[in-house]
Amino acid sequence: MRPRKGLGDLPGGLAGRVVALRADMNVPMRGVEVADDARIRRTVPTIRRLVARGARVAVLSHLGRPGGKPVSGLSLAPVASRLSALLDAGPGDGGAAPGGGGAELRFVPHAAGEPLAAAVAQLRNGNVLVAENTRFLPGEAANFRSLGAEWAGWADHFVTDAFGAAHRAHASTDALPRAIRAKGGEAVAGLLVERELALLGRAVHDPRRPFLAVMGGAKTSGKIDAIDALLERGATVLVGGAMAHAFFRAIGLETGASLVEESAVGTAGRLLEKAGPRLALPVDCRVAAQVAPGARIRVAPRTEVSGDETIGDIGPATAALYGARLREAGTAVWNGPMGAFETDGFDRGTTEVAQAVAAAAARGASVIVAGGETAAAAEFAGVAGRVAHVSTGGGATLEFLAGNELPGLAALSVRASCGERSA
Ligand code: 3PG
Repeated sequence: MRPRKGLGDLPGGLAGRVVALRADMNVPMRGVEVADDARIRRTVPTIRRLVARGARVAVLSHLGRPGGKPVSGLSLAPVASRLSALLDAGPGDGGAAPGGGGAELRFVPHAAGEPLAAAVAQLRNGNVLVAENTRFLPGEAANFRSLGAEWAGWADHFVTDAFGAAHRAHASTDALPRAIRAKGGEAVAGLLVERELALLGRAVHDPRRPFLAVMGGAKTSGKIDAIDALLERGATVLVGGAMAHAFFRAIGLETGASLVEESAVGTAGRLLEKAGPRLALPVDCRVAAQVAPGARIRVAPRTEVSGDETIGDIGPATAALYGARLREAGTAVWNGPMGAFETDGFDRGTTEVAQAVAAAAARGASVIVAGGETAAAAEFAGVAGRVAHVSTGGGATLEFLAGNELPGLAALSVRASCGERSA
């Protein structure tokens, strides 16, 4: 496939031009406060680059799942304030891009319509506006072409830094870039998306071996395709977290009162058959009557979980085994915690695996931490700053690893090959 266009492919004179920037500022909130601004920070270099080139930047993003109507508590106003502070506070993550400090930023409490168009018309060169949550509009998740066309009515070019939302074919990720291209504008990847694609692409297409994937969390069904694709690419997959329970059930083990995704048991069995020794399951677990603070926890071999117990974490023997494998890795992808790490006593497996992942990175392995919950687990274990790449994508990263096309990338302009006119 021909490469997608990037910021460098935008036409030279951006002064006076409006760039619609789709970002993924879907950040964890604590009430009306931004609880973690990583996704906002990661898009700052792209905004700085556009601002430095004199563009008028209109940022579109979703926050949460308001279901097509305004929901108080899911306004992007606090996100806009944080972005404003970050833009004035010097370069953000990887902020090699020049300029941008001091750009004026305004929040517009409308996601579409005349008030937004009027605010865009008032933008001056090098200034930024953040529109209200795109998912307050019913046409966003339904990918209404009319909504994409409306936004394209005031934008000259489109840039996406929304890697985390690239697996969604929504109006702001699909209809809008297509409408921009239809009117002769460019729809290109921002710096964040380019970095994600470079690092994830290398892991998928040319991994340094041994290639390991640590897969955890609760939802087995959402990860089956990614596990399958990783196995196809020669990875060894180490399974933990509640998703391991479906695999336990597939080999006839007792899982007591643990969370089990029944519908995934059959597929788990097929994956085990296909992968043989390249799919490793926990050999022991931490179990209790229930997963709650202060619970009396015991370590049990996986064959000795009783009918009234709940599995809350991998056990120490598993953590040691997985740790030893990780320390040898050339490439390691980690998605999903190993247990209920937010609950005291059930955090040890995740912490030990996180430390082994960080040790692999320190030894020079390419390490990718994927997904918001996994990023939070890495943060909790104190290793987030020590791994090579914490991906901003959750579902999008899994889809990418599974080899599926991401609609938000498929909608972008592609570079012309020799002798061809530019797309
Ligand atoms: C994410 O957090 O994974 C992205 O922002 C996409 O959010 P969604 O799963 O609500 O579409």
